[in-house]
Amino acid sequence: MPAYKETKMKYGYFDDNAKEYVITSPKTPLPWINYLGTDGFFSLVSNTCGGYSFYKDAKLLRLTRYRYNNVPADNNGKYYYINDGKDIWNPGWQPSKTPLDLYECRHGIGYSRFTGKKNGLKAEVLAFVPVGDNCEINKVTLTNESEEIKAFKLFSYVEWCLWNADDDMKNFQRLLSCGEVEIKGSAIYHKTEYRERRAHYAFFSVNEKIDGFDTIRDDFLGAYNNNDRPDAVVNGKAGNTVASGWSPIASHQINISLKPGESKTLIFVLGYIENPENEKWESYGVINKKPAEAMQARYTTEADTEKAFAALKNYWDELLAKYHVESKDEKVNRMVNIWNQYQCMVTFNMSRSASYYESGIGRGMGFRDSCQDLLGFVHLIPDRARERIIDIASTQFEDGRAYHQYQPLTKKGNSDIGSGFNDDPLWLIAGTSAYVRETGDTSILMEKVPFDNDESKATPLMDHLKRSFDFTATHKGPHGLPLIGRADWNDCLNLNCFSEHPGESFQTFGPGEGPVAESVFIGGMFVKYGKEYADLCELIGDKAEAARALEEVEKMNKTVLSEGWDGEWFVRAYDAYSHKVGSKECEEGQIYIEPQGFCVMAGIGLAEGKAVKALDSVKERLDTEYGVMILQPAYTKYHLELGEVSSYPPGYKENAGIFCHNNPWVSIAETVVGRGDRAFEIYKKTCPAYVEDISEIHRTEPYVYSQMVAGRDAKFHGEAKNSWLTGTAAWTFVNISQYILGICPTHKGLSVDPCVPADFGDFTVVRKFRGATYNISVENKGVQKGVKELVVDGRKIEGTVIPFEEGKSEYNVKVIMG
Ligand code: BGC
Repeated sequence: MPAYKETKMKYGYFDDNAKEYVITSPKTPLPWINYLGTDGFFSLVSNTCGGYSFYKDAKLLRLTRYRYNNVPADNNGKYYYINDGKDIWNPGWQPSKTPLDLYECRHGIGYSRFTGKKNGLKAEVLAFVPVGDNCEINKVTLTNESEEIKAFKLFSYVEWCLWNADDDMKNFQRLLSCGEVEIKGSAIYHKTEYRERRAHYAFFSVNEKIDGFDTIRDDFLGAYNNNDRPDAVVNGKAGNTVASGWSPIASHQINISLKPGESKTLIFVLGYIENPENEKWESYGVINKKPAEAMQARYTTEADTEKAFAALKNYWDELLAKYHVESKDEKVNRMVNIWNQYQCMVTFNMSRSASYYESGIGRGMGFRDSCQDLLGFVHLIPDRARERIIDIASTQFEDGRAYHQYQPLTKKGNSDIGSGFNDDPLWLIAGTSAYVRETGDTSILMEKVPFDNDESKATPLMDHLKRSFDFTATHKGPHGLPLIGRADWNDCLNLNCFSEHPGESFQTFGPGEGPVAESVFIGGMFVKYGKEYADLCELIGDKAEAARALEEVEKMNKTVLSEGWDGEWFVRAYDAYSHKVGSKECEEGQIYIEPQGFCVMAGIGLAEGKAVKALDSVKERLDTEYGVMILQPAYTKYHLELGEVSSYPPGYKENAGIFCHNNPWVSIAETVVGRGDRAFEIYKKTCPAYVEDISEIHRTEPYVYSQMVAGRDAKFHGEAKNSWLTGTAAWTFVNISQYILGICPTHKGLSVDPCVPADFGDFTVVRKFRGATYNISVENKGVQKGVKELVVDGRKIEGTVIPFEEGKSEYNVKVIMG
């Protein structure tokens, strides 16, 4: 085993007051990244200044170039090189990797700060995307901390992506002839393809007179050079090169001299501009730069930049104040109040499109993924959640089925990553129900929404939900359980695929549908979201439909209890031969996590004692110190009839990995049966703040969730992969905020019904809900669940729901558990 597995080590610390994670060594086990941007313009930025920017769609409108799978890793980004006569260095360490006298990266909420010191010079970079503007600001401050005058040369560097990131990596015969730039003053404009079919360009500017520039990459770097020691930087002289084709870049040279103690601040702006078709040109062949110049003018002074930065901070402070807990557990406070909510915003924005593990060209917005991301986001900006629900529902088919993804720019569904995932339709009910519970806005249910983006087929959203519900109700297999189709939540359980040849995609190959293979998991979903659908029907006064839905739900409940019960736990599925999957009868893969969590969350088997039994089986068979595994025993051979799930080496991904997404389902299920100790134990195992101490083993960022942690059967048990873009963020926020701390939106108002460890102690929550502030204090003298007394503004209330009163702005709530 490599030595690094043996030590337990941190690479930084949480600064909760500043809401930052402070990284003190550039050599983190993997790049530890952050996201800049809230809506429209986005950048990914690593702890060594790597990353890239895009506008709305990481595939179609990529501004700067990044090389995935590169060696050495993560060495393209937005860089500032300093040549001080002695050394060539970068404040974020990469790409020169010159050892620094001090290195620090502070990833904050929507911004990152880098500080590098070398030879008595301090260089600070503050990177952020201002709220409501399509640009990234880099405020670069240089301070002479030595006793002598310091004269040095600063070079900026970004490499343009020729817009379509997919083409940019493949279509060299065309694109190497297309690159075009313009230079005006201190701004470098990237205008590839602007002449013909684009009305957008990008620029990189600085608020200072420059001493030179470069736009031809290979001249700047030097032939056969990496970007660690570009020729121009080493020679201290930019070539003033003007690109024509090949790989255009933007680099400024600024010569600076500072007296002892003196500082200088430069403001760089990377901007994206769209011009109206009839205002594209200033003169023949010269782009209309007016909107770009206006953007540059907005950030000319330090004061402008400070103001924009303060606005960003304020924006986030207001959002994060929507749910604020104070408990004696600082890690819970830190995750709930800062990082978990932050990650929920990022997953809402990105779905599964752009991270350091999702290349931005592979997946757009996932139907199922985005519906789930909504669950952790809806309290932050309900209006954006509303818009998203309409966008998603607009891609649904008339028979209730769904495209599995759509592109954020066009908002049109496509089948590139497969179709026929039979859980998809029900997630629309989940997302809509969460939105209506949060906001009380039932008007969304009446909103006319197209099918397959065809406006002529628009019907009220409520009708879309009915079709989601009916799709499952009318697509059942031999046992009366829902047909699985291509797969359900577990993309890799491909029971109708039968792929035998390498290169065939499990998601698109072979028959995606079959009349036999069934999913117990979808059965659990149907019971849970069927009830929520019935609640929505009640809410709009359709009692008959509510009753019909509940009848179907009860039928499914019974079927899951009889056909989906294995004796000690819930069966996972039936395959295309009607053999059980996830049963003691199986040779491998005898128990799966998903139906245990979801069926219990849906309330199935509570009365019969099956719910508790299923959860006990999870603890006995799937638990590890790093989280709960997805299945056991791992598949050691490929099962043609099961598909991709058995294609991974044991312990990784869906084959017995700790798939973090469904750990909160089991934790929530534990709260449903009232076991707060166990619910919290599960919560802690995958929670970033608790695993920070084992960063060396865990390897991904200690401030956000990863999709997967290697399971017990894997060589590197405990090692995480695929950080940031995972439904884990939303589900763990739902778990901790609504079930463990127990503050849950219902149609009638907020419900308070915590389920915590017996020794969790008292805690308070401030929750903003439907325009009002709820100051909730919970007293707990050693119980795990149960509300003995609920007092709202001095009045005792029966039950756990605080009735919502229109127009009331503040509620003071006291809860005594017992
Ligand atoms: C996908 C999810 C899926 C999960 C489990 C993720 O990569 O984005 O949609 O539910 O894998 O297979």
